[in-house]
Amino acid sequence: MEIINRTQRMRSVCRKVRRDQEKTIGLVPTMGALHEGHLSLVREARRMCDTVVVSIFVNPKQFAPAEDFQTYPRDLTKDTMLLADYNVDYIFAPAVEEIYPKGFSTHVEVEGISDQLEGAARPGHFRGVATVLTILFNIIRPDFAYFGQKDAQQTLVVRKLVRDLAFDTEVVVLPTVREESGLAFSSRNAYLSEDDRRAAAVLYRALAHAESAYGEGERNGRKLAELVRADIEREPAARVEYVSVNDADTLAPLERLDDRPVLVSLAVRFGKTRLIDNILLNRTRTGKTGALTSV
Ligand code: PAF
Repeated sequence: MEIINRTQRMRSVCRKVRRDQEKTIGLVPTMGALHEGHLSLVREARRMCDTVVVSIFVNPKQFAPAEDFQTYPRDLTKDTMLLADYNVDYIFAPAVEEIYPKGFSTHVEVEGISDQLEGAARPGHFRGVATVLTILFNIIRPDFAYFGQKDAQQTLVVRKLVRDLAFDTEVVVLPTVREESGLAFSSRNAYLSEDDRRAAAVLYRALAHAESAYGEGERNGRKLAELVRADIEREPAARVEYVSVNDADTLAPLERLDDRPVLVSLAVRFGKTRLIDNILLNRTRTGKTGALTSV
């Protein structure tokens, strides 16, 4: 496993892998502080691709000034040790100036799908995500890029980015990985106190409640959202920012649910920690990758 800090080196290694060795490249883009969710993506990339690149880059452009860019957990040594066990070929861990050199002024905006939910709560967030992924895709030119369903809106933004800008990359989305309590793995869980971590298990219980209500025939989007909100609000440590029921492909808000895939998503604060989670109703999995798709 080689750790690469320089864009030029990463670019030339990938060029060689593609041209001379005719191998496929899988990219797992991350901001580090790796957990089981990331590792499930790495495992799948390893299974599908000849060469696996994991990028570790805390991207300043996707944090608003008042957000946690400075305090975001960083531990490259620990991440490297974890990835060594997964037979990863390259870690790309550039410095900020390597990705955004002095005078950098080009940004990528995926209009429409970036506007609601997380985009509304965190203006500029998806512009930062789309910009850094465009740069990473151009440097690495991966055949496959791997993302977790936990960041549901991000997966839609990335799919649209890849389609609109004609990247020769297939986006693979894998299911959310959860702790035994149901809490979704997230780098930001590291901020939670013991008590808040226990309390945060309410998020999945509430989403699972929505899933069973849907299974029993509830087709009113507002009622599903209210049910989730009420469950979470019974937990004193939780402060709900939003609970939303949307079309899983377009993110259009849904009142009346038909047989289309539905995304129930939420953002909730526990103390200063903001967590997001979601559940996809009417989902299917493709046999080959276990990736999530919509019917
Ligand atoms: O999901 C993340 O960790 C980040 O948004 C990503 C995709 C690595 C872009 O910085």
